[in-house]
Parts: sequence; C-alpha cells; structure tokens
Amino acid sequence: MEKKDLGLIGLAVMGQNLVLNIESKGYSAAVYNRTESRTKDFIEGKAKDKNIEAAFSLKKFVDSIKRPRKIMLMVKAGKPVDNTIEEILPLLEPGDLLIDGGNSFYKDTIRREEFLLEKNILYIGTGVSGGEEGALLGPAIMPGGKRKAYDMVKDIFSDISAKAKDGKPCVSYIGPNGAGHFVKMVHNGIEYGDMQLIGECVWGLKNALGWNSEQIADIMEEWDRPSDILSSYLIEITGKGMRETEKKSGSYLVDRTADITRMKGTGTWTVASALELLVPIPTIAAAVFSRETSQDKDLRLGISKILKPAASKIDLNGQKFTDIAHDALYIAKISSYAQGFALMEAASSKYGWNLDMGRIAEGWRAGCIIRAQFLSKITEEYKADPKLPNLMAAPYFSKFINQKLVSLSRFIEVARHVGVPALAMGCAYDYILQIASPVMVSAQVAAQQRDYFGAHGYFKLKDSQEIELKPDGSYQEYHTEWMEDGRPEKKL
Ligand code: 6PG
Repeated sequence: MEKKDLGLIGLAVMGQNLVLNIESKGYSAAVYNRTESRTKDFIEGKAKDKNIEAAFSLKKFVDSIKRPRKIMLMVKAGKPVDNTIEEILPLLEPGDLLIDGGNSFYKDTIRREEFLLEKNILYIGTGVSGGEEGALLGPAIMPGGKRKAYDMVKDIFSDISAKAKDGKPCVSYIGPNGAGHFVKMVHNGIEYGDMQLIGECVWGLKNALGWNSEQIADIMEEWDRPSDILSSYLIEITGKGMRETEKKSGSYLVDRTADITRMKGTGTWTVASALELLVPIPTIAAAVFSRETSQDKDLRLGISKILKPAASKIDLNGQKFTDIAHDALYIAKISSYAQGFALMEAASSKYGWNLDMGRIAEGWRAGCIIRAQFLSKITEEYKADPKLPNLMAAPYFSKFINQKLVSLSRFIEVARHVGVPALAMGCAYDYILQIASPVMVSAQVAAQQRDYFGAHGYFKLKDSQEIELKPDGSYQEYHTEWMEDGRPEKKL
C-alpha cells in the first residue's frame, strides 16, 4: 500500500478534526489511537472513504508513513506526550519529525526538543487554536522548533490553517524550541482576559441597566458588526449564548448556567511565567483569580450571608452607558493585550527567540479563539514600529486611550456603585495608570519602608523624575541610619 504523507496519533475530537482537515486538503494520513475502539469508530464513521488509514499497532503506523516521517501528536498535554514519545522513539529513524499539537507547557517542549535532537529526531511544538471547529475548518497555528523542521510541514500547515480576510494563512514560523507553545500559552492567557472582561461588561450592563439576556445579546450583536472595533469571535459567541433559552424551562440558558468557570491550566501557566519573567500582567491574572473565585461556590454562598457590600441603583441613560461600556471594554482589551505582548517580548529576550510581534498578531487574525478585527490594528502598529516599548505606545492605541480612558473609569465606578465586581477591568485601568506614571509614589513609600526596617537601601531622584546615576551609569544607592540621631544618610 502507498505510504501516507503524514501520521497522527490521538483521535480525540481535536485530532479527528485536524486529520480530516489535512485529508480534505489532498494529503493522505495514517492514524493511531491507544484505544482501538476509538480508531475503529473513526475509520468506519467520519473517516469512511477518506484517504486515511488506521493502524492498530505503533509499528504498523510508523511503517505506513512516507520518510522522513511527519507525525503529529494530538494527545493530552503532560505525561501522555512523554509516554507517546518514549513508545514511538525506537521505531523512528534519523530525520523523522514529531509535532506536538497539544497545549504543552513550553519548558516541556524545550526539554523534549533537546532530547530528541540528540537522537536526530526533529521536533515541533505547535499551538493549534480554534477549538473543534477550527481544527476541522482552519485553525491558527503557532509552530516552534528548528526552521528546518518547520520547512518540512510549512505547506501542509499553510493549507490547513485559517485564512485572514487578505487571504494570508494564519500560520508562520514563530521561533526556536518552546516559542510556539509559549505564544499559544499567552494566546490562552489573553483569551482568559477577554472572556473575563466581556463577563464583567455583561454583569455591569445587567445590573446597571436592569437588562435581560436578550437585550445584552442585541448589544453584543451590534458590537460584532464588521465595522465595530470590538468585532470578534468571543463577542459573537457571547451574543449567541445570551440568546439561547433552556428547552425545559424557557429561561435564558445563561441564567440557568452554574457560575463556575473551570480551566485546564494554560492561563495559570501564563501568570506563573509572568511572575518568573518579572512582567506584570494584572488583567490576565485577574481573569485567572476570578475563575478560582468562581470555583469556590461554597465560600461565596457562605460569605454572601455575612458580608453585604453596599450596592445601590443608579439612574443611567441606557444608550450613553452602553457607549461607555463599549469603549471601556475596548480600552481594557488593549491594556490586556499590551500585557500579553509585553510578556512575549520578555520571553523572546530571555530565550533568544526573536519573536516578531507583528507576525504573531497577524497570525491571530483568523482561526483562533481571540480572532478579532482589532488584531489587524495591532499587526499594523507593530509592523510600523517593531520596537514599540509597549503596545499602548502605538499612535493609534495611545490616541484612543487618551481620548476615551474616562469611559473605563466611569464603567468601573458604575459597576462598583451597583455592586458588580470588575477585577479585570480595574486591573486593566490601573495597569495603564501605573505604566503611565513617571513617578510611582507607592514605590517611593515602599523603598523608604524597606530601608527603614531592613537597611535595604534606596535610590534617589536627581530631579523630579530621573534617577541619580553613579559615574559608571548604574543607580547610586543610599541608606539612611534611621535609628541614629540626625538620621545620617550615606552613599552605598
Ligand atoms: C484554543 C483554546 C483551546 C482550549 C483551551 C481552553 O485556542 O483553541 O484556547 O486551547 O479551549 O484549552 O482552556 P481552559 O480549559 O483552560 O479554559
């Protein structure tokens, strides 16, 4: 039998849909799944009459693929990836390529690539975003690894990926080793941020205007019009979700849905990575923390009987407030993306990945969960100035923020007034305030406190803003003898 163009291991929904997508673009494929019955169901069902061959042993699977082999792993992140690599490795030959398309942690990808390269096996860790539908019809793909490895699958990836409005495929080489999985992880962190911000916006609209789900669905539909700056997949599905009614009761399904947001971990990794790389991403962290609070239902039920935060009604002009909410959401989104891109910049320098922010944004314009009109703007701004110190320094975004930041503060104020928590919105706002502060008074206070209680030293301003330098260009350090008379101050 003729050897297949590619092999795929792991026939959960993402794996099935991805291989169907690959086959639909004219490639032949071999598939393998640990549980045989799943392979059988797939081959006799969705894959019937397709150029897809099932294998029931890894040996047969590997033998049925053209050399150098390209094998995609669509197995659960973590141990299953290591186990699969361990099992398949003795069957592979130098020059073969393994591609991990799951949401693996980028440090695992770095480790696996290094291990496999020693054995002359190429490795790609790639983000694949777009959920089940994306996998089938065109996902956004974020591959990391050796350029040589990428070149082996460049055409397949390009053929199966989503295409942006200008026809460009939503895939490009992201960078070496863990770069693809890091970028996918940040994509997911941003996804959490977007979801939380939209959720806070919906809650604010509900409580401030007394609106029901249908009314909110109407607004979401309006905000998703192609000409609207908020137009995005997540706004679209929020509207659709808000309109859905429960068959049994006729109530809006969202009102009958338990207020618990689960998570598989990529958002938490994003925050942990940000802590490790010393990059503040408060909005994304707020989104993760909010999911955690959502999961502690018992605590909330109990505390709500004890703590009664004041909330009052407010008389608002509906149209005016929805305009405020619209701009608030947009600015909060900009702030959150700025945090995510700052995190990618930091990782890029630490790991020498040379990430291209414009290309990353460009690749997120279609196919992935955070696809949005606004990503074209980010692409343009990074292409115009790839060295932006922060996304919000870009002329288009800084202008919008300078004109409309008041909408975000007004939204937060109204939310607090009507008793709606807006943790992510608040963090988005304060992140802007902090990075736009030439002098952070809170930091001056803390620097003095540290020197007072622990003799940790502090730096001084040479004028109202700039830091006093030593002749060698480093910061001049001082310490005050807080316990001595006259509080003598010495240079360190
Ligand atoms: C995507 C999604 C996808 C998945 C997330 C959900 O880009 O297609 O991000 O990867 O839906 O893992 O993450 P949580 O389960 O953590 O919400």
